[in-house]
Amino acid sequence: MSAVGSLAIGTPTDRVEGREKVTGAARYAFEQLPGDHAYAWLVQSEIASGEILSLDASPALAQEGVVAVAWAGNAPRVAEVDDRELSVLQSRTISYRGQIVAVVVAESLETAREAAAHVRIDYEVRDHEVVLDEHDPAIYDPGTVNAGYPSESVQGDVARALARADAAVDVTYRTPAFHNNAMEPHATVALWDGDDLTLYDSNQGASTVRDTLAQVFELEPEQVRVISPHVGGGFGSKGTPRPHVVVAALAARMTGRPVKLAITRQQMFAFTGYRTPTIQRLRLGASGDGQLTAIVHEALQQSSRLREFTEQTAVATRMMYAAPNRRTAHRLARLDVPTPSWMRAPGEAPGMYALESALDELAVELAIDPVELRIRNEPPLDPERGIPFSSRGLVACLRLGAERFGWAERDPTPGVRREGDWLVGTGVAASTYPAYRSPATATARAEGDGSFVVRIAASDIGTGGRTTLTLIAADALDQPAARVTVEIGDSALPRAGLAGGSMGTASWGTAVTLACRALVERIEALGGHVPADGLEAHADSSDEVRATDQGYSRHAYGAQFAEVRVDAVTGEARVSRLLGIFAAGRIINPTTARSQFLGGMTMGLSMALLEESVMDREFGDYLNHDLAGYHVASHADVGELEADWIEELDDHLNPMGSKGIGEIGIVGTAAAIGNAVFHATGRRVRELPLRLDRLLAT
Ligand code: MOS
Repeated sequence: MSAVGSLAIGTPTDRVEGREKVTGAARYAFEQLPGDHAYAWLVQSEIASGEILSLDASPALAQEGVVAVAWAGNAPRVAEVDDRELSVLQSRTISYRGQIVAVVVAESLETAREAAAHVRIDYEVRDHEVVLDEHDPAIYDPGTVNAGYPSESVQGDVARALARADAAVDVTYRTPAFHNNAMEPHATVALWDGDDLTLYDSNQGASTVRDTLAQVFELEPEQVRVISPHVGGGFGSKGTPRPHVVVAALAARMTGRPVKLAITRQQMFAFTGYRTPTIQRLRLGASGDGQLTAIVHEALQQSSRLREFTEQTAVATRMMYAAPNRRTAHRLARLDVPTPSWMRAPGEAPGMYALESALDELAVELAIDPVELRIRNEPPLDPERGIPFSSRGLVACLRLGAERFGWAERDPTPGVRREGDWLVGTGVAASTYPAYRSPATATARAEGDGSFVVRIAASDIGTGGRTTLTLIAADALDQPAARVTVEIGDSALPRAGLAGGSMGTASWGTAVTLACRALVERIEALGGHVPADGLEAHADSSDEVRATDQGYSRHAYGAQFAEVRVDAVTGEARVSRLLGIFAAGRIINPTTARSQFLGGMTMGLSMALLEESVMDREFGDYLNHDLAGYHVASHADVGELEADWIEELDDHLNPMGSKGIGEIGIVGTAAAIGNAVFHATGRRVRELPLRLDRLLAT
């Protein structure tokens, strides 16, 4: 399939729904007022492991305005699905602290909340294990990891190569649990009409939520409608429905009332997912001239008792650099903790932190410039799969970034630049993220008045997806963007996959392009005439996606450069400059693309210096469960921040020639910052975040 012509694509364009958002006209899930609605408040487990012996709802039900209390003892049964977190209010067994054990429904939010405090629960308490520990005898090989990759990969003989290497590093990096903190916490409004369920829900894909809820309630997908026109961020945590969505629907079914349920910020630290903590051992061997001879990347991570969720932490290491001997492996410990889930660049973000930090350590060992070391190990083919890259712009990003950043003047000696109390250093790391695509369907319609409407159950989680699709449709129709309206965010629209895996635009854009081209053909067949009642075309991209997504290794790349300042007295680290140069195929909308890159980089800065979910070993939950205790980078934490990209034409992707950009910005940022901290101080901290106590202790 040839690339679409480009008039709208590439034009910096403000969000088409920007005015609606800044005037407050855009309605988010919890703002829906269906009428006669009641409010739900969740009761959470106060133990990490055990059984509910009894639950006494009567003191809660005695409160004026309380409609119902549901728990495992009285809630309707639902079907078990793969994600056992969704079997909520079905069992008396407690799998983690903070798990939903009951829901109170009342006439007002305040009443529901007050009554929830009066639900009395007696537990049988079991011992819990909540801290990831490499000596845990129950650690196992999960066989496969997320996105369907095998948990292990082996090429050559790493032991032999490491023994013969001129230079080697053997280092272990640790990353903590991280929690997604989208601006809009999860929320659902559930309404039943007979056996038909409607959900106003904050999610990353209305079709996915519809299909999952249909399974849980044993309905046909057509009996469930999920409406999600605006979503205030997700980062992965809204990729699949979390248990509260099921609770809202259960509560609405039990009470016969529409039910509104909003998750609090604190609750987001319990049951909406998080990035698993990792312990990663990296062993690298190289010849004296800096050719990698061996790469070993072993990752240990956690999941819950409910579900085997294994992040693909070491998978990027399978294709990043040339080396004849390579081993990657993932291991899992199942603990009495909530199930981890997706968080921006799941796998690549923690995995590339470890790989790119270890590579910097090797560069120091070899006394080779870290930019040069990466360039020397550029693979001609995907080293594991032996197939060509569709395009690979890493070296171009490193070179352009080095030039813009002023890397050539860098003195590699660590710990020698000082401005007052501030030690100054610079660091570099590579970024990557796969260019995935999933099938989707779309319709394109020409109206008699010369306007066009494109419909697809795509999702705009704040990234600008609606705008991007407008530009893609405009070019495929060969029409000005102002004549095109794109309708998204409703499962009643043609089925589409998630805003996730950085594949939204590539996936939806393929279906939108096919639908628009089919419409153009229909119009041409009528001699260019659109009937007064309009003309429509439908497309399904399944065949197109299946046919072309083979034979090439498809990834976006980037190079991140950081300058940090570390206070020699207090250990405080600040990032004074951050530059990311990316190679991500054709950039559809430079305005929102730049925001995506900058947002990812800022989240990477936050991961490097601030964010950390601290497990309370005694009680078994994450104790810093609010934005006062869990620090997310704010404007004051960000110094000079710049993102740019190289022109990249890649015909092996999709009709637009685009790669995803939502996640790559976070990848490599923490390593670039950690490497800069080493350059500033001479201290190698191998655990995130780079807290001042760690910087002073090393
Ligand atoms: Mo993203 S973590 O694939 O929503």
